[in-house]
Amino acid sequence: MSDDTMQENNQKQYLWWQDGIIYQVYPRSFQDANGDGIGDLRGMILRLEYLKTLGVKAIWLSPIYPSPMADFGYDISDYRGIWPTFGSMADFDELLANVHAMGMKLILDLVPNHSSDEHPWFLESRSSRDNPKRDWYIWKDAKPDGGLPNNWLSVFGGPAWEWDGKTGQYYYHAFHVKQPDLNWRNPQVEKAMLDIMRWWLDKGVDGFRVDAMWHMIKDAQWRDNPRNPDYKESMGSYEQLLPVYSTDQPEMHGIAARMRKVLDEYHQRLMIAEIYLPVHRLVAYYGTHDREAHLPFNFTLTSLPWDSRSIAAAIDEYEAALPDTDWPNWVMGNHDQPRISSRVGLGQSKVAAVLLLTLRGTPTLYYGDEIGMRDVPIPPGEVQDPQGLNMPGKNLSRDPERTPMQWDQTRNGGFTAGQPWLRIDRSFRRRNVATQEKDEYSPLCLYHKLIRLRQQEPSLMVGAYKPVYSDTQLLAYIRQADGHPGFLIVLNLTHRPGYFTPSTIRFTGVIVVDSFPEQEQVSVKDSLDLFGDEGLIVRLDDWRAVSTNPNPHELAAMP
Ligand code: GLC
Repeated sequence: MSDDTMQENNQKQYLWWQDGIIYQVYPRSFQDANGDGIGDLRGMILRLEYLKTLGVKAIWLSPIYPSPMADFGYDISDYRGIWPTFGSMADFDELLANVHAMGMKLILDLVPNHSSDEHPWFLESRSSRDNPKRDWYIWKDAKPDGGLPNNWLSVFGGPAWEWDGKTGQYYYHAFHVKQPDLNWRNPQVEKAMLDIMRWWLDKGVDGFRVDAMWHMIKDAQWRDNPRNPDYKESMGSYEQLLPVYSTDQPEMHGIAARMRKVLDEYHQRLMIAEIYLPVHRLVAYYGTHDREAHLPFNFTLTSLPWDSRSIAAAIDEYEAALPDTDWPNWVMGNHDQPRISSRVGLGQSKVAAVLLLTLRGTPTLYYGDEIGMRDVPIPPGEVQDPQGLNMPGKNLSRDPERTPMQWDQTRNGGFTAGQPWLRIDRSFRRRNVATQEKDEYSPLCLYHKLIRLRQQEPSLMVGAYKPVYSDTQLLAYIRQADGHPGFLIVLNLTHRPGYFTPSTIRFTGVIVVDSFPEQEQVSVKDSLDLFGDEGLIVRLDDWRAVSTNPNPHELAAMP
């Protein structure tokens, strides 16, 4: 079996991004090597061994390009460079070479929807109305009464239009005022961005996570967005409207297909798309016959109520929506969302780990979740995230989930010898990688076991998903690849004990991984008693469906 390309499983072949696990690194917060308090590329090089040992296949880096850092790198002023505080291009080349030498892959963030307002393209564009780059961005006249061109809002608060006094027009910014949107109806913009993709692919990067893809092209008529009837004061002001004209436009599919073609000029490169849409709209971004994104990120688990019925239904809905040509994926957290352990509690975050690493499809892990890092309260005077700064008092800052990685018990958790750019969780002395590596009850040890098992067992890595049972507490399913032992996963999504006594299947097997390791290696038959916060995997010796109970979840277990 060749390590980095394909996994053989009964004639079917799987690509590295199908049977491998993706790990997101937020570069500012992963490892600082030069003591300036900000993570860097050399720091990452030092920590590659950790990622290799963890068992992940691909590392996705949030942006590392030159940037004024108004949105921490998502405002790019040079798409072909490295931000000096992160390192040099030579450091990047070394990182890429090391990642490859260790049998892993490197995925970069690509931010095609907008640049920085300090990018030379925008400086030219705003210099005069007849500059050749004027049309590379979105410029509109004021309404005859002097009003904004339409009612669209910025994700980071306030209107999405900014007046430019010098040239007497507004420019559009879906995010920060320092992130003007590029005009993807201009073919020169598309060509420039596709060339940038080729430039990095020629260097050998293994793919891109495309930022904000559902924003990239807007309604040709610039119609007002309708009011959101479900808006509440506690939400971000952006939610006042439904972005039906400013996002998810039909023309986006052509662009996504042309981006994909660029990837396809190379060998086995990956395009992930950041898209926050309901499942039926999301799957459209695979494109008919898999012609667009390989993996439109599936964020379902980051926002669902943490209850077993909702989760069971969401998994079924997603599985049903995916055509055979498309490969599923699951995300439990990222740099824009509260951390899972803060959302559901530390006990349940272990159950979440069992869920994420046993579902069908590529899992994406967010750095630090494997040690149960939690959101860190950042005092108002230290808030740095523009989303938090622009909408104070609503608890919308993303700083809490971006704090420094907790490596060990030394000063600043081993993240930096200097002053960290964002405060580190004060629990770092007991919650860190070094301590957890020695503690078999730790989240990190659970992640190690889950990843090892998943990567060894074709059923867990690529096998079919068969729903078995769900009630108000429990969620159970089987993963099974033809010709390989099946696995039964049973999760208790509450803190109370739960009893798994399914009427529709009989099974015997052994618990092989459990969020409470004392239960591991215990033989089980037909039923299970679970503690609160327990999630476990049973390697099945035998199982069969036995009845015609009309509960659809149970019926679905019939082989
Ligand atoms: C994406 C990024 C987010 C960023 C935004 C604007 O949603 O994940 O961090 O602020 O795009 O680029």
